[in-house]
Amino acid sequence: MPAMTVNDRPVSFDMDPQTPLLWALRDAANLTGTKYGCGAGDCGACMVLIDGEALRSCLVTIAEAEGRFITTIEGLSRDRSHPVQQALVAEQAIQCGYCTPGIAMAAAALIAKNADPSEEDIRAAIPNLCRCGVYPRLIAAVQRAGRVTRRQERISAAPAPGIDPADAARAVPAMGPSGGEGAGEAGESGD
Ligand code: FES
Ligand code: FES
Repeated sequence: MPAMTVNDRPVSFDMDPQTPLLWALRDAANLTGTKYGCGAGDCGACMVLIDGEALRSCLVTIAEAEGRFITTIEGLSRDRSHPVQQALVAEQAIQCGYCTPGIAMAAAALIAKNADPSEEDIRAAIPNLCRCGVYPRLIAAVQRAGRVTRRQERISAAPAPGIDPADAARAVPAMGPSGGEGAGEAGESGD
């Protein structure tokens, strides 16, 4: 039963040790902020911090993560107050948002090591794919996050959402009880 620390809490997964960390986080720990994109190490949607390093959780088994410190997007800050989160919003570097958690984790790892990154540094440290093409704004956002980290600038762009995750889940038709109100809505919409 591989044990590790996830977002500062001790966790052990009663799962096959070869299970990718991505699935353990999403399916067992309900930390669905970490996204599944390609499952093959190409897109970066699944990036989390492992001992402070941004790694693709689809390529790391829970056996390999044993004893390590994992941080997911849910653990980056409790209220979206991390400089990277604030700057991504302030620079409007989010479109559909699917790639954003992985990008935020890669950016946070970079800023922790280098709070004044060049465009080249950012491109090298954040190889993540974004189908919406936020790349130019991403460069601006990461450099702005660096300025915030260096205390050269203050931003407060992203208010806490004030949405309880359980309430949000209840509002998703696909998660309604089988045959219940939510399921009916999904069927009627033709989705
Ligand atoms: S889902 Fe892991 S790199 Fe794409
Ligand atoms: S914002 Fe849509 S994939 Fe990046």
